[in-house]
Amino acid sequence: MKAQFVNINGEIIPEAEGSVKILTHGLSYGTGCFEGIRGYWNPDTQDIYLFRIREHFERLHDSCRILNIKLPYSPEELVAQTIELVKRNGWKENVYIRPMAFKSDEIIGVKLHDLNDKYYIAATPMGDYISTTGIKCGVSSWRRIDDNMIPARAKVTGGYVNSALAKSEANFNGFDEAIMLNHDGHVSEGSSENIFLAINGELHTPAVTENILMGITRDTIIKLARRDLDMLTRERQIDRTELYIAKEIFLCGTGAQIAPVVEVDHRPIGAGAIGPIAEKISALYGEIVRGYRSEYMDWLTPVFGVAQKNSKKKAASVSSITK
Ligand SMILES: Cc1ncc(COP(=O)(O)O)c(C=O)c1O
Repeated sequence: MKAQFVNINGEIIPEAEGSVKILTHGLSYGTGCFEGIRGYWNPDTQDIYLFRIREHFERLHDSCRILNIKLPYSPEELVAQTIELVKRNGWKENVYIRPMAFKSDEIIGVKLHDLNDKYYIAATPMGDYISTTGIKCGVSSWRRIDDNMIPARAKVTGGYVNSALAKSEANFNGFDEAIMLNHDGHVSEGSSENIFLAINGELHTPAVTENILMGITRDTIIKLARRDLDMLTRERQIDRTELYIAKEIFLCGTGAQIAPVVEVDHRPIGAGAIGPIAEKISALYGEIVRGYRSEYMDWLTPVFGVAQKNSKKKAASVSSITK
């Protein structure tokens, strides 16, 4: 069901009335920053669970700080506004939430200072963003933007031109997704996902200084691997050819969820099929985000709230759930 309502500057209004003026600075120059948050519908508890939403709004605040954008509400207040918005839209399905803060003046002139800011929170039902059953990737000829060009750790709208160039090139070349290298040739991330490699029984992922978005799913996986799979994750510099010899590779992100990679640059990864580590993490992630793992309920914000206790009771008895 299409969105009926949107939040603009803290006020919920009909979606059809939510528009921006054509000379808006953020539209002309990419001077905005945003988030992508998922909410998962649980049919047993009849609730939608927003996954690590506080962390998303904390990251939005960080992005705004980098872009000189004033966000007038705290992460807690933005969480409350999102809950209200999802409730008002009346969904009983998986949703995707898109908060956006941007330079709102209708002027010609490239800068970040002495401008007014606005924000909105939009939401829409959403299924998979990319396949979670094995994707083929190509290393992109487009290099990842550097921290001193457009900082990747800020989720800046203008920076996504870099992602879009890489994604379309990958698709034009017959791949599902791009893997981007840094300016110095080391692995950075996918067009909108972080990347993990399994090598010698450990996970490896590019360090936060490798021009990546510091993904919330990335952080989730590092914690799950340690607690539930007894696996350490090394955050380090990764060479391109390590991609070719890794036993497993998977991409991850709020949109992508856990996307196992079965081929890179036409070379099979491991056996060329989804590996056991990606399979376990994917199954666990699917249970956690839907509220079937009591030990991880702290990561979830229930939209309706009332059913959370039932979910805790059920959690132990649910062994697997499909995405
Ligand atoms: C460039 C980029 N890297 C990584 C991610 C994954 O971040 P997260 O797990 O916080 O969604 C995203 C998705 O938002 C992204 O756009």
